[in-house]
Amino acid sequence: MKKVGILGGGQLGRMLLQVAANYPVETFVLENDSNCPAAHLCDHFTKGNITNFDDVYNFGKGLDAITIEIESVNEAALEKLESEGVKVYPKPSALKTIKDKILQKQFYKDNHIKSSDFVITKNLAELEKHIDFLPAVHKVGMGGYDGRGVQVIRTKDDIKKGFDVPSVLEKMVVIKKELAVIVAVNDKGETAIYDCVDMVVDPELNLLDYQISPADISEAIAKKAAIIALQVVTKLKSPGIFAVELFVDKDDEVFVNETAPRVHNSGHHSIEANYSSQFDMLWRVILSYPLGNTAHILPAAIVNLLGAEGYTGMAYYEGLEEVLESDNVFVHIYGKVETKPGRKMGHVTILHKDKEELLKQVTLVKNSLRVITG
Ligand SMILES: Nc1ncnc2c1ncn2[C@@H]1O[C@H](COP(=O)(O)OP(=O)(O)OP(=O)(O)O)[C@@H](O)[C@H]1O
Ligand SMILES: [Mg+2]
Repeated sequence: MKKVGILGGGQLGRMLLQVAANYPVETFVLENDSNCPAAHLCDHFTKGNITNFDDVYNFGKGLDAITIEIESVNEAALEKLESEGVKVYPKPSALKTIKDKILQKQFYKDNHIKSSDFVITKNLAELEKHIDFLPAVHKVGMGGYDGRGVQVIRTKDDIKKGFDVPSVLEKMVVIKKELAVIVAVNDKGETAIYDCVDMVVDPELNLLDYQISPADISEAIAKKAAIIALQVVTKLKSPGIFAVELFVDKDDEVFVNETAPRVHNSGHHSIEANYSSQFDMLWRVILSYPLGNTAHILPAAIVNLLGAEGYTGMAYYEGLEEVLESDNVFVHIYGKVETKPGRKMGHVTILHKDKEELLKQVTLVKNSLRVITG
């Protein structure tokens, strides 16, 4: 039986482990918090720091393969493990490119993959030199996630809100739609691609509000999106699972926003809505089984369950019974002990053949279910 490790023990690791139970695999998790969402679903839990060389190296050295559920891991340790024969999904070289938004944007440019224009800024003083480039979006090179580390800079007055560390300043795209595409790549370089997902972003939290899959887009846009997503994974030259976030602008041009080299929030519907979920697919890649069937069984919507404003402490899920009365609603609670405002505590998947009905139920779920304390 293959021994496979996951760096990070959050909800992505948890959902990956839920599927691992169906396969002949022995699972290992490395994470600092022994009460994290994935801690109790793996065969072996190791308490340690995923950004620390020794912790990652020691964790990985007896394993057949290792994967990540977050980008901020010690990639030098992964490189060493890879050189010693441990399979790493994604390859450390791909991780390195993606992890730093500066390198990531440069990668799109070098490979002629359509992405908004950008300049690199080392600090605020450099940012001030790019007033002509505004309106733009400033993004921290390393360490940003879930919208933190992203700042809109419309005018000269906004410059002080920018980052005083190495960052990219991207031209503002007039976004008509945000899409995401999940692509799997196996060791042979074969790919499997899912339908585009419509990602609707909460403008205040800068975080995903809800998503619909398949996206409501023309065939032409779907085709452009698929071509770009396949270009990205081909040029990254790595097996694994990748989520490519895209923008569609007012002229229906499609741009890459960013890529995640791992399972992703935009693919959670696939647990119920597609024949092979993104988690199932990643196990097929790691365990060298045939790639799964990405086709939709039914259209789906996803609502993220975020900690409600004003509540910090032991989580309580208000309205669970009400939403579970619907026969097409599926609740995923991530098992985080404490809630805080905006924290991702779970998600709800709604399945329905009719898109209008899906949207109605999105509103219903958003109005009935709250993560508070209790
Ligand atoms: N060049 C751009 N033009 C217009 N809007 C943008 C641009 N870049 C980012 N945004 C907006 O900011 C959001 C967050 O940006 P991005 O995806 O790069 O950050 P992130 O921190 O990785 O967020 P997440 O983890 O939620 O994906 C995007 O989903 C989009 O709504
Ligand atoms: Mg993003």
